[in-house]
Amino acid sequence: MKFFIDTANLAQIREANELGILDGVTTNPSLMAKEGIKGEEAIINHYKTICDIVDGDISAEVLSTTYLEMVEEGKKLAAIHPNIIVKIPMIKDGIKAIKWFTDNGIKTNCTLIFSAGQAILAAKAGATYISPFIGRIDDSGWDGVLLIEQISKIYKIQGFKSEILAASIRNANHIIRCAEAGANVCTCPLDSILGLLKHPLTDIGLAKFIEDSKKM
Ligand code: G3P
Repeated sequence: MKFFIDTANLAQIREANELGILDGVTTNPSLMAKEGIKGEEAIINHYKTICDIVDGDISAEVLSTTYLEMVEEGKKLAAIHPNIIVKIPMIKDGIKAIKWFTDNGIKTNCTLIFSAGQAILAAKAGATYISPFIGRIDDSGWDGVLLIEQISKIYKIQGFKSEILAASIRNANHIIRCAEAGANVCTCPLDSILGLLKHPLTDIGLAKFIEDSKKM
C-alpha cells in the first residue's frame, strides 16, 4: 500500500518525506486555502515546490466544474511537472473530463467518492486513482471502510485498473483498516501516519532496554 500525505503544509510534507516512506501528496482547495495560497501564480508555485520536495504522485485539484474548463485547467496543472495528477470532482462533467485526460495520457484522481456506483463510473472513465472519503462517511453515521472493501471487491471481479486511494483518513486505525480492506493508497494527515508508531509496550520495552544497557 502506498502512503500519501494529505496536506498542502510544506513543513509537514518535508517531515513525512524525511521518514522515507512517502509515495505522494494530495491537496484540495480547502487544504491550499488553509496555507494561505491565493491566486493562479501562487497556486502553481506551491505545486512546483511540493514536486521539488517529494518524488511521487502529487494531486492538484481543478477549481472549475464544467467539462471544457476542467480540461483547460487540468492541462495547465499537468504541465507543471510530470508527477502532477489532475484531481477532478465526481460529477457528470468530471467523468467526461477524466475520459478526456485518460485518452490524452494524463493521470487523474477522481475525488469526492461516496458510493460504489461512483467508483464504477470513475473506473470506467479510466481514472488513475479514485478517492473515497472514509472519515466523512463515518461522520454521517456509516462505516467508511466498508465502502473501501466493497469497491476493492468490485474492482477485482471486474478487473478495473483504477487505484483505490482512501482519503479523509482521521487516525492510525483508519490506515490499518483500509490496508486490510484492500486500499491501494492511504492519504493521511501527518498525525495519523505518526500514530502508527505508537504502542505503550514499545515505550516500556525500550525504557527497560536502555536501563539494562547501562549494566552491559
Ligand atoms: O483530500 C481530501 C480528504 O482527505 C479530505 O479529508 O478530513 O477534510 O474529510 P477531510
